[in-house]
Amino acid sequence: MVKEKILVIGASGQIGVELTLALRKIYGNAHVVASDLREENELLKGTGPYVSLDVMNKEMLHVQVIRQNITQIYLLAAILSATGEKNPGLAWHLNMQGLLHVLDIAREEKLQKVYWPSSIAVFGPTSPKKNCPQQTIIEPITVYGISKYAGEFWCNYFNRRFGVDVRSIRYPGLISYKSAPGGGTTDYAIEIFHEALEQGKYTCFLNEDTLLPMMYMPDAIRATVELMEAPRERISVHTSYNVAAITFSPKEIGAEIKKHIPGFEISFTPDYRQAIAESWPQSIDDSTARQDWGWKHEFDLSRMTSDMLANLQ
Ligand code: NAD
Ligand code: SER
Repeated sequence: MVKEKILVIGASGQIGVELTLALRKIYGNAHVVASDLREENELLKGTGPYVSLDVMNKEMLHVQVIRQNITQIYLLAAILSATGEKNPGLAWHLNMQGLLHVLDIAREEKLQKVYWPSSIAVFGPTSPKKNCPQQTIIEPITVYGISKYAGEFWCNYFNRRFGVDVRSIRYPGLISYKSAPGGGTTDYAIEIFHEALEQGKYTCFLNEDTLLPMMYMPDAIRATVELMEAPRERISVHTSYNVAAITFSPKEIGAEIKKHIPGFEISFTPDYRQAIAESWPQSIDDSTARQDWGWKHEFDLSRMTSDMLANLQ
């Protein structure tokens, strides 16, 4: 049996830190190489190998893959929805070129597997708002969404044409306390916890009734690991799987926090991110993921809120 050696690109980011730690538990510290453009995250220090790496430098990436005997890549480096609208050219360039570099190297080096996340941001205003299906009208309005949708089809192409085993999930907004979020429209649902504990109040950049699909990080990490461990014949979607957990609005999460911090006050001053949020579905139909590889979320709004507050306190 081939002993897996995993390279995580973007390991110092919101998902990267927790995913790297989870993979190190499964495969052993020495078998998971963390890498990022920025410095190693504090939580990763001392837990395993780290290399400084720019995914835009294909030669350097290729050298690392060969030198470290890498068999799997998890590509997490990207520019997210809100930051992407400030510099669309850069977001397109990083999100697309980074993926193409990884897919090319995976084909050339015959890697076992590649993981690359997509997002609910692929959906646009013409997609169904409720229980948005796996296959539906997809007309994204952000550069981030466009790059994710194009990326899904590159994954599908490399799978069909070259047999690269690349797997993907359309994450909803992810909520976590270990590492800071990287500039998404759903980041309000993290900021709100920090502000509630530090200031007792929060001004949300979305309207009070804006419903969005969300997920607590432990569920997202488990979904990722379960998808990657599923037998290849169980994978029927080679673009990206819908996965779902919770849907709530800023008003609803505010009310949930109030149960723990009675004096907490929330106000609403929507900015440019409101239009992005309104273009996305409110809830997602993830029945294909449930059927293919047994996906099932564990955290609801109440359990997630208690856990976030307990850990941040
Ligand atoms: P993040 O911004 O927190 O982390 C991305 C990391 O990539 C950062 O540490 C950054 O330094 C690194 N990076 C940027 N450019 C790089 C480069 N050229 N070379 C190497 N590293 C580079 O993002 P995240 O929230 O952890 O998201 C990870 C992936 O998951 C992205 O593809 C994102 O689109 C996707 N996703 C995230 C969410 C969410 O809510 N966090 C939801 C849907 C999809
Ligand atoms: N959480 C992400 C964002 O808001 C969704 O991909 O950009």
